[in-house]
Amino acid sequence: MPQTRTRNFCIIAHIDHGKTTLSDRLLEFTGTIQKREAQDQLLDAMDLERERGITIKAHPIAMNYTAKDGVTYKLNLMDTPGHVDFAYEVSRSLAACEGALLIVDAAQGVEAQTVANVHLAMKQGLTLIPVINKIDLPNSDLPSVKRQLEEILAIPADEALLASAKAGIGIEEILEAVVARIPHPKGHPTHKMRALVFDSTFDTYRGVVVYVRVVDGSIKAGDPVKLMATNGSYEVKEVGLFKPQQPKFFAQPMLNAGDVGYVIANIKTTSEVKVGDTLTNGRTPAEQPLPGFQVVQPMVFSGIYPINTADFEHLKMAMGKLQLNDSSFVFQAESSVALGFGFRCGFLGLLHMEIIQERLRREYDMDIIATYPSVIYEIEKTNGEVLYVDNPEFMPDPSVIFEIREPIVKCFIMVPNEYISPLMQLIMDKRGMLDHTETLDARRVMLTTILPLNEILVDFNDKIKSITRGYGSMDYEHAGHRADKLVKLDILVNGEPVDAFSSIVHRDKAEARGRILAAKLKEVIPTQLYQVAIQAAIGGKVVARENVSAMRKNVTAKCYGGDISRKRKLLEKQKEGKKRMKAIGRVNIPQEAFIEVLKAN
Ligand code: GTP
Repeated sequence: MPQTRTRNFCIIAHIDHGKTTLSDRLLEFTGTIQKREAQDQLLDAMDLERERGITIKAHPIAMNYTAKDGVTYKLNLMDTPGHVDFAYEVSRSLAACEGALLIVDAAQGVEAQTVANVHLAMKQGLTLIPVINKIDLPNSDLPSVKRQLEEILAIPADEALLASAKAGIGIEEILEAVVARIPHPKGHPTHKMRALVFDSTFDTYRGVVVYVRVVDGSIKAGDPVKLMATNGSYEVKEVGLFKPQQPKFFAQPMLNAGDVGYVIANIKTTSEVKVGDTLTNGRTPAEQPLPGFQVVQPMVFSGIYPINTADFEHLKMAMGKLQLNDSSFVFQAESSVALGFGFRCGFLGLLHMEIIQERLRREYDMDIIATYPSVIYEIEKTNGEVLYVDNPEFMPDPSVIFEIREPIVKCFIMVPNEYISPLMQLIMDKRGMLDHTETLDARRVMLTTILPLNEILVDFNDKIKSITRGYGSMDYEHAGHRADKLVKLDILVNGEPVDAFSSIVHRDKAEARGRILAAKLKEVIPTQLYQVAIQAAIGGKVVARENVSAMRKNVTAKCYGGDISRKRKLLEKQKEGKKRMKAIGRVNIPQEAFIEVLKAN
């Protein structure tokens, strides 16, 4: 099909505004899938995504649409991840398109991620088609949403289409607008081949599948190819388009300029394939790669350890498999005095971290302990040397530290007026500063704040949601480093520091956190044969202490009478419980303790 009949577009929206539902309606309307198949939101394929209602990976789909002008067009739809953790994936998916449907919920209006995504799309020069979705909702407020489009995003309100993805209203109008308003790709079919890599996955039968947008030239099976950023050379085995159902891959003789599709070559691991890289022909390589390549750096780090040390190899294999599909997840072996052998892992953000941990538990049945998440600190020593530390364990002695600098973010928070003051309290608690305030409309403001990344890692978004009864939303971008009074807080159990419990915290908060942790651990560490002291310390100075008093635990004591089978069950249960304990010196610490420490804030 000629480029003039191709449209590459994506859907951008704030979380839950209906992106996935609308994508399914488009697939149904174009006959790409049958109604029955659409029931379960086809595009969100992973269980976890479905459960959390968030889209994690971009899934491109090709559909044919015969428009009212009688011409059949090929529409390539990319579903982009909506979460801030995956902003780079969003921007690469956008770079593969000429236009975007901008979905805004008719009741919620424009939110923080709507603004962030619109900025990304405008930077890429995409044509935006605003779609006000969920017009079936009784509390939808069209005049106000239209005003927000104009005032906040500078998008003319009369361009907006009205739709209900749920009720199937406005779907054909959207498809017509895609054909009429979004420009066709304008690559050079005869130039040297260049294709933008915007994702990759690992398929058990096919190996690495690279998702590309061909910009210039064409690519077919048998071609030698080269990845320009990594310099890897390969031979193409197959090229094709994406289909929503299994088998997802639909082989084609060739992909041409303007096409969005996949390339299978003899690539061994997805870590060789960087999102944003340019694929070119190995025999006649392009001189210049496509613009905008950036190596994604993990921002959040945490140790992951098997509960049972014998599971180390199994865990390594499981992580390797996860990495195959997610090259932004990185890990390397490390050891901890408290936890034994495990891995230091890097993630794009907190949601990414939770997803990986959850998948290890669910898909690989791994019993794991994860340590408190950390950011990367820039530590300047008194001798001028600068260290990058993502694990409190490697923090040098305070006496040789000149300054510790932590990553900070510029965080945009949209909030209804009545919640400004409790929200400001939260920002202060998190060591943040208000940069400026913008009035969005009669009801809402946007606060631009500067916060330490470390402070928003664990529960910031949840807190915003609970303070604003769900009406507030946030987004952030990285804003460099800033020096502050940071210290390492150690937790000692019977005098021995438990490295997995230590964290880097602000000096002013350290004591309070030490007390909370000691009290939490007192609750969850079971009584042992002797007294156990739990202490929190900063640089050798104890700031909090709790004791777990000694007691002999006899689990069978409850079973007076001779119920042998019940006794045996209890003993077995106790044995099982022991397996889930980690011995720190002579003290057994249950898995639960590690989890409680993570939650303590
Ligand atoms: P993320 O993938 O998390 O970014 O969410 P999403 O934007 O893909 O939203 P999704 O399609 O999962 O929809 C979120 C919720 O809104 C679901 O419960 C949908 O059933 C509901 N929803 C979507 N479209 C409509 C609509 O037109 N009307 C109504 N009433 N509900 C809708």
